[in-house]
Amino acid sequence: MAFWSKKRKIEHNAVPRHIAIIMDGNGRWAKKRGLPRRYGHRVGAKVFRRIATYCKEIGVQYITVYAFSTENWKRPQDEVEAIMELLCEYLDTALAEFEENRIRLCFLGDRTPLSDKLKAKMAEVEEKSKKYTTVCNIALNYGGRAEILHAARALLEAGEEPTEENFSRHLYTAGQPDPDLIIRPSGELRLSNFLLWQCAYSEFYFTDVLWPDFTPAELDRAVADYNGRKRRYGGV
Ligand code: FPP
Repeated sequence: MAFWSKKRKIEHNAVPRHIAIIMDGNGRWAKKRGLPRRYGHRVGAKVFRRIATYCKEIGVQYITVYAFSTENWKRPQDEVEAIMELLCEYLDTALAEFEENRIRLCFLGDRTPLSDKLKAKMAEVEEKSKKYTTVCNIALNYGGRAEILHAARALLEAGEEPTEENFSRHLYTAGQPDPDLIIRPSGELRLSNFLLWQCAYSEFYFTDVLWPDFTPAELDRAVADYNGRKRRYGGV
């Protein structure tokens, strides 16, 4: 084994099984450089690809990113269109790359208002990557409260007993473990309607780094910080 890979193994002695990321700060990153906000999202999309691949390299089994919230429709139309275009572009190239990286892509959120073109690409990518076991969830038109209501309605319709297990089976993340670590860059200290049910025992890591500047080294810092936490799940 090469020296660097041994070192990496030691550094990631307790790699979280599931890391979720709020990819925040794209707009401020662009503004600081006098560039349009959509440029920040473009760089943010590249960083997402790098970080998703890196997570797989270090043994993370699930990564979830917040790409577009149910509230983001309030943004100027050109910005919304730019993010949707980026997603379409990304899905066009994703198949080839994710085949190489062997990552399964899943989407969390309500697809109803998305364009037919985007919905078709999402379905194709999900279908073609479903054989892989490392999962990358992209939260798109996602809101934690909306997800909880959606699951509650489904539970009622199915006439099931309201247990945590039955409820979880109606969430977009059905069958997946809850996030161990939630990372939010850009200095904001809030959850913004992200994975409200699933975050019950997640550890949080906040950093001032803006998402377009986020690097694998920053992810290493988050994982090292996580490794120093004592998770008690309500026990002692
Ligand atoms: C938050 O930063 C970012 C978003 C609302 C969009 C995130 C989208 C991408 C990174 C591109 C597409 C994603 C994929 C998976 C290909 P912000 O705009 O709120 O930044 P600000 O707080 O600095 O204004």
